[in-house]
Amino acid sequence: MPVITCIDDLKRLYKRRVPKMFYDYAETGSWTEQTFRDNCGDFADIRLRQRVAVDMSGRSTVGRMVGQEVAMPVALAPVGLTGMQSADGEIKAARAAERFGVPFTLSTMSICSIEDVAAHVTKPFWFQLYVMRDEEFVDGIIERATAAGCSALVLTLDLQILGQRHKDLKNGLSAPPKLTLPVMADLATKWRWGLEMLGTRRRSFGNIVGHAKGVGDMGSLSSWTNEQFDPQLDWSKVARLRDKWGGKFILKGILDVEDAKMAADFGADAIIVSNHGGRQLDGALSAIRMLGPIVEAVGDRVEVHFDGGIRSGQDVLKALALGAKGTYIGRAFVYGLGAMGEAGVTKALEVIHRELDITMALCGERNVADLGRHNLLLPADFATRWQ
Ligand code: GLV
Repeated sequence: MPVITCIDDLKRLYKRRVPKMFYDYAETGSWTEQTFRDNCGDFADIRLRQRVAVDMSGRSTVGRMVGQEVAMPVALAPVGLTGMQSADGEIKAARAAERFGVPFTLSTMSICSIEDVAAHVTKPFWFQLYVMRDEEFVDGIIERATAAGCSALVLTLDLQILGQRHKDLKNGLSAPPKLTLPVMADLATKWRWGLEMLGTRRRSFGNIVGHAKGVGDMGSLSSWTNEQFDPQLDWSKVARLRDKWGGKFILKGILDVEDAKMAADFGADAIIVSNHGGRQLDGALSAIRMLGPIVEAVGDRVEVHFDGGIRSGQDVLKALALGAKGTYIGRAFVYGLGAMGEAGVTKALEVIHRELDITMALCGERNVADLGRHNLLLPADFATRWQ
């Protein structure tokens, strides 16, 4: 077994072990992938301020996200088709998160259902909602999340229609995969994945199949979004959903200061600064570039969370120092899951935790709550380069 020292090590293993179709699904942005690349690239533009001769004993990464104590302010992001990266992937990831003490967010487009995940964990997890045209279905899934004891609803605002991802179209992405010749040739080299997948009955969209009506291709994410997602989602519909849910309510996919102000006026418990991992509007600015201006505009009124491009604890530290109260990892945990199952998700969390803790110490800080702009060195035009 190779020595895993960083998230990139997990990614290399992941690429070897998981069918190309699902590797490509995770490792893609829309169209030219400019925003996808910028999400990571812009983190590298931020430098850290080294401080010395500071007592670095008794450090703590413990924080709070929407009132919940977290071992570190890093939640697992909702990721569609996680159960195709590894058999029963959502259950494995939820368990690893629970053991580590960080929130797990289940995607509407998961393979394991809400009820299935709830049966395999002991503490509440979070549920991410995509809004379908069928109001009965949406109300039903909110009721199911309530019945399962979910402790926050994460409403995604930036994917009512799907940004085109070339690789998914070329690969014929579906869950489960259709056994074409190229897929079978690829699966022949991914025997571990195949064996585990044969051993589970969870191989299609568990929250949806059997619950929604009138979908052409049950296995295709793009059919789902085209046929089912509600293109009319607006603030009045968001208000209806918040009232129906009645619990902690997080708005995901805010990238603009004006939208952030509207979300703060609306009274969300938190917003997630995000461009959907560069998978939606290609050409949008990176999430980390927009974080500072959004925190400045609304950080005193609403809890600001962040996702997009985090591949290390140093990245987490940079986002926290720019004012995020919580962060999310998507691809970074999927790499671990595809590489080594549940143990791989734990490994990803451990790697990020250790990087965050040691980097915080080397910046002269003992507590994540004390991180701030004073820990960073930014290019003078980092937030203002594009006007
Ligand atoms: C959403 O589910 C996505 O594929 O980005």
